Amino acid sequence: MKLGINVDHIATLRQARGGVEPDPVAAAILADQSGADSIVCHLREDRRHIQDRDLELIRKVIHSRLNMEMAATQEMIEKALLIQPEICTIVPEKREERTTESGLDVLAHSAKLKDAIETLNSSGIEVSLFIDPDLAVIKESARIGAQAVELHTGSYAETKDEASREIALDDLAGAAIAAEKMGLFVAAGHGLNYHNTMDVTTIAEIKELNIGHSVISRAAFVGLTKAVEDMRYLIDR
Ligand code: PXP
Repeated sequence: MKLGINVDHIATLRQARGGVEPDPVAAAILADQSGADSIVCHLREDRRHIQDRDLELIRKVIHSRLNMEMAATQEMIEKALLIQPEICTIVPEKREERTTESGLDVLAHSAKLKDAIETLNSSGIEVSLFIDPDLAVIKESARIGAQAVELHTGSYAETKDEASREIALDDLAGAAIAAEKMGLFVAAGHGLNYHNTMDVTTIAEIKELNIGHSVISRAAFVGLTKAVEDMRYLIDR
């Protein structure tokens, strides 16, 4: 199973101070060198975390695949054509949301999405649609020519008890099986962490997981002791 690492959260930390560190480009290099199969970054319309410069540099420095997450707007399509990621994951985008809260409404926007897919494909860029595990949406994604779908695992991740977790996992499995039968590459992501990811790996049809927040959060803790020791050393010297 492939692992995509989302480095937006490093950019969020940088933007909180408006400075230059931590740099998501450095994070992308480290993730790339540590076994990630792809680097995911979301260039949002409001540029709240990843900046144009980040995406341009990440494109140049990584050896794994670049997965550019974006809304299907004219501005972002033009940007993708310039950057040339291997794959674009199209997500819905609302200014007021904290993170991508739901899957794309492919049924309501199919004509616009079909055009975006055709434009990106004609430049050699594959397209994945970030969707809820819903059969009608999967069918429409295949019909309009997407190469892949990324199943939104948010509902699964947010379940509070074992019974609802099993139901959500079954929904993901059913959706993954259907999507694969329709010829789509199946990825999944959102809210996956060190407790809930292993169960998702039991779904053989899911071929890639895209994970950000939990990995970056853990990185802060597994690296904190060393970071404090380094500062202690500087001060004591
Ligand atoms: N996949 C998509 C399409 C996303 O929008 C996000 C969140 O940026 C992720 C995966 C990763 O989610 P998380 O940060 O919760 O691991």
